[in-house]
Amino acid sequence: MLIKPDAVKRHLIGSILSIVEREGFRIVNLKMEKMSKKKAKLFYAVHKEKDFFSLLVEYMTSGITVGVILERENGVHHLREIVGDTDPVKAKKNTIRRKYGETYRRNSVHASDSKKSYIYESKVFFKEHK
Ligand code: CMP
Repeated sequence: MLIKPDAVKRHLIGSILSIVEREGFRIVNLKMEKMSKKKAKLFYAVHKEKDFFSLLVEYMTSGITVGVILERENGVHHLREIVGDTDPVKAKKNTIRRKYGETYRRNSVHASDSKKSYIYESKVFFKEHK
């Protein structure tokens, strides 16, 4: 999971981590970092052809992000359930994005959508890329 710059700026790191811990996740590793453009582009490489890509990279490099490795039975699926829809307006009640997300882009958190994405994304975020 990433806690994105909008949530970090609004002092929501603790609130978001306490939701995931309450849902039975164990925090395995955690790192705070202002991502470089290179790292953000690599992290979101799957979206590189999309029209929102450059604004996404700009936003993700605008402040501190917290990368969190979480562990739980059925973790990928359950985390996406509690994170909610990409668009905070469409996200179900009591989900993290419904509670804290501001817009489609400033949606507070990112959750890997598969084990394969998790392996790729955690490698990118936790490795030192300058
Ligand atoms: P996330 O789950 O981090 O994965 C990619 C991000 O791109 C997504 O959350 C949104 O914040 C952003 N995104 C996806 N689609 C759009 C869109 N149509 N317009 C703006 N931002 C988008």
